[in-house]
Amino acid sequence: MNPFRPISISFSPNTEPDDIKLAWRILFQPWRWQKGGEIQKLEEKFKEYLQVKYAFSFNSGRSSLLAILKSLDISKQEEVLLQAFTCNAAVNPILWQKLNPVFVDIDESLNLDPKDLERKIAHSTSSGQASKIKAVIIQHTFGYPAKIEEIKNICQKYNLFLIEDCAHSLGAEYKSKKGGLPAEASAKAGTFGDAAFFSFGRDKIISSVFGGMVVTNNDKLAQKIKEFRKKIDYPSNSWIFQQLLHPISFAWCLPIYSCLNIGKGILYLKQKFKILSPSVYQEEKEGKKPFYFPQKMPNALAALALNQFKKLERFNRHRKEIAKIYNREFSWMKVRICANKDTEPIYMRYPIFVKNVYPVRNQGFLNGAKEIRQKLKKENIFVDDGWHTLPVVPPDTDLQKMNYIRGKCPRAEGVAQTILNLPTNINISKNDAQKIINILSRFIR
Ligand SMILES: Cc1ncc(COP(=O)(O)O)c(C=O)c1O
Repeated sequence: MNPFRPISISFSPNTEPDDIKLAWRILFQPWRWQKGGEIQKLEEKFKEYLQVKYAFSFNSGRSSLLAILKSLDISKQEEVLLQAFTCNAAVNPILWQKLNPVFVDIDESLNLDPKDLERKIAHSTSSGQASKIKAVIIQHTFGYPAKIEEIKNICQKYNLFLIEDCAHSLGAEYKSKKGGLPAEASAKAGTFGDAAFFSFGRDKIISSVFGGMVVTNNDKLAQKIKEFRKKIDYPSNSWIFQQLLHPISFAWCLPIYSCLNIGKGILYLKQKFKILSPSVYQEEKEGKKPFYFPQKMPNALAALALNQFKKLERFNRHRKEIAKIYNREFSWMKVRICANKDTEPIYMRYPIFVKNVYPVRNQGFLNGAKEIRQKLKKENIFVDDGWHTLPVVPPDTDLQKMNYIRGKCPRAEGVAQTILNLPTNINISKNDAQKIINILSRFIR
């Protein structure tokens, strides 16, 4: 493996030379950082792409979800259902709005399980009192669409708002034969609920380091989101500066980091001295709200996102091609995720599940996914994206502060112990995918 070309799943995986050039250019044009025409252009692109009436940008998926929750008719202390095996960034906006998150277990596609959803709703209505559940969030995990129709039917039956968390699924499709869609239509994730949000975080489908978008067809909701957005600020110039440095810094430094094996230390120092910002701030792991959220999408990051949006189809085609290679090789291992029927995933990651202990010739045993990740790291392949160990990631999240009660979602807890995510992004070549497979086949049988 070439030490100067590390394979990484999450540092800055979508960045290409034109993105770096653009970031450099904007870095020297501070008058374009906060306000500018790129914000509206990005929103128009989303409306056109998803064929929706409204699109509102924010500085993150977190801010976008918070904007939706603030604009729905939900009182404090009422409940929002969402799946376990999620990121604290999807739970926190619920807590910040003083609502209670209630976790639903996942199905074999790593998405919200409709059966457990109905069970949890039934449980909440069984006490004779009015149910506190007001909304359901469906996440299309790693770009694999959830069982949208079943979940939509349940939401209609119980009169619940449906929010789609499309942080991982820009471009994923669900082919519906029912559900109010024209016959044989295929529709994009993000067009099924009352509202949906997207993320342009550093390791998402397209990336502007931070950024998010709300889409909806609901006039009343759109009006409220618009009013809410008017009241919030643009991020500060120093925050925007940090984000612009991110793609530049990783393009130059990642090979040096990995080659000298000092990456983690340098990254820590850069974050400590606020040259770069982390994707999740420390206080968020305890449910607290950093003052960076909610804020408007700054023009500088909208320009980066627009540039990436132009490449969306190519990015997703590439992900599907890489997934095909993994599919071919892993089909005999029975370690693959199962995509739902009638869906067209876009494979933001390619998850496989590994048993706990693997014997390795002359080396004793490997203790599951964690040690396999370490082995891959030694080969300059960085696949630790933080999506493991706990049902709310990253692994140092305080579960109690997230309102998660251990044992409530056993499948999500099990998945978190055995999952190993493989990269599919544009900077992974077919040869790289094959190399990863070859290395893994030494351990996994
Ligand atoms: C499933 C999921 N939902 C929501 C978010 C929040 O997105 P953002 O990081 O843009 O705030 C993330 C990302 O971290 C996520 O993985």
